[in-house]
Amino acid sequence: MSTETRESWSGKLGFVLAAAGSAIGLGNIWKFPYITGMNGGGAFVLVYLGCILLFGLPLMLCEITIGRKTGKNPYGAFKSLQLKRSRTADVIGVLLMLGAVSLAASGHYGFAVILFAAACLFVWLGFAAVGLISLITAMLILSYYAVVGAWIVDYVYRSFTGGLHFTQVSEAAGAFNHYLDREPGRIAAELIIFMVLTAAMIIFGIRKGIERCSKVLMPLLFFLLLAVIVRGVTLPGAKEGIRFFLNPDFSKLSIAGVLEALGHAFYSLSLGMGITITYGSYLRKDENILSTSLWIVALDTLAALLGGLAIFPAVFAMQLAPDAGPGLIFNVLPATFYRIPGGMGWFWAGLFFLMMTIAALTSAAALLESGVTFIMDQFKVRRVPAVIGTFLGVTLLGFLTCYSTNHWENLPGIEHFVQNVFNVRTGSWFDLLDKLTSNWLLPLMGLLTVIFVGWIWGARKAGRELREGTHGLVDENLITWLSGFRGEPRYMEAANSGLTIMTLWGILIRFVGPVVILAIFIQVITK
Ligand code: PHE
Repeated sequence: MSTETRESWSGKLGFVLAAAGSAIGLGNIWKFPYITGMNGGGAFVLVYLGCILLFGLPLMLCEITIGRKTGKNPYGAFKSLQLKRSRTADVIGVLLMLGAVSLAASGHYGFAVILFAAACLFVWLGFAAVGLISLITAMLILSYYAVVGAWIVDYVYRSFTGGLHFTQVSEAAGAFNHYLDREPGRIAAELIIFMVLTAAMIIFGIRKGIERCSKVLMPLLFFLLLAVIVRGVTLPGAKEGIRFFLNPDFSKLSIAGVLEALGHAFYSLSLGMGITITYGSYLRKDENILSTSLWIVALDTLAALLGGLAIFPAVFAMQLAPDAGPGLIFNVLPATFYRIPGGMGWFWAGLFFLMMTIAALTSAAALLESGVTFIMDQFKVRRVPAVIGTFLGVTLLGFLTCYSTNHWENLPGIEHFVQNVFNVRTGSWFDLLDKLTSNWLLPLMGLLTVIFVGWIWGARKAGRELREGTHGLVDENLITWLSGFRGEPRYMEAANSGLTIMTLWGILIRFVGPVVILAIFIQVITK
């Protein structure tokens, strides 16, 4: 499809809501609350906000800018922005090859082959490899994200049909494990339902599909969230939960916690996997990238904070203990809601899981759309066949997760293959995908994206694209602005130089970002 006929968002609201839909997902409402509870409450929230503003926002600006400049999918975008063969990409290729050799030496042959293939991609395609790998990452993430979506669909159904009648967490946990272990066929059917809904959101295109759905679903999501919060905080004893969630306790905050905040900031904003490049590629030139990004970031953070308020006050009021991991929403919450006096527990559980379904659906739509846009751009296929093809591929891959969430035993052949070839002994296919994508691929792609924009494409050229549509906002001198001297004749000459949003962004993506992301890696490697 040529750029002239490429669709675009109808305006700022449509783009902001769609991108917020991509960002607001399971990460906000389920993961953020419990990592906050474990890492010192309010103290962690402050660190997280810092990470969002200092690293998340600049990377988001990079991704939207790359997308809008090129109007292409991530692979096509990186390819068209790199002018010539890149030495840096060759160096990255060599480094990856060294990594592959050391993995092979330690017996991780499977990972060694993957890393070797990635190295070849870099040498062959240059930075376009980043686009390609991030697309693969997005599809892998979707293949297990949609399975969690399927569980949530199941819990909506069970809430409204009276199937979640547990007063004890242990009972709820038993039922959940039974479901995961013994009912893979049911999960697979629900996966298909979830994926059909996801595909239905995007099959009508950007404006008539994603945008229209987001304009209805996002307000509904916030409404449901507020309803659940009101129920929770008005229960006697709810204050303890708010205290657990938000009271700052700096003694519980460790370096590992800080790095966790950073990694989660990228995940939560859907950065590092080409999605925001894809959504940005449908953005018109006259839209303000800076202010739209600030909106997306603000909505995403608000949803995370509201997610905590929807969960902890109720959990504490019902005298249950906050749990970590999947247990929090699938074990503790059913028991929490069921204990709410008045016999309406099923209703609140239903609303909660409905809200989670919406959050998961709009994120899944963004993931699927990045695959679809890639196929449409690169192979000149129309939308409908592209959606069907991507849908089938991801759903089939998702079946692997359905059959092996808790245990490998359901997939003996694959279990054997993975354990011998990859030399990984723990967990399941689900764990393997989650660790590989969230811990390794996302930060790696984020790192390469900031390096690309800061050094290869170049902050100067990228900045020109970023500036378009911002009405000079990015060039305001921050010092005169913040200190209230804006417009003062004495400072007029200096107004466009010195510390502006633009120059601050340049520094963050060229130096601070790469160093800090490397720190996350070292933490992950040495863990
Ligand atoms: N940002 C989403 C969340 O917070 C997760 C996600 C990651 C969605 C990557 C799309 C792509 O849950």
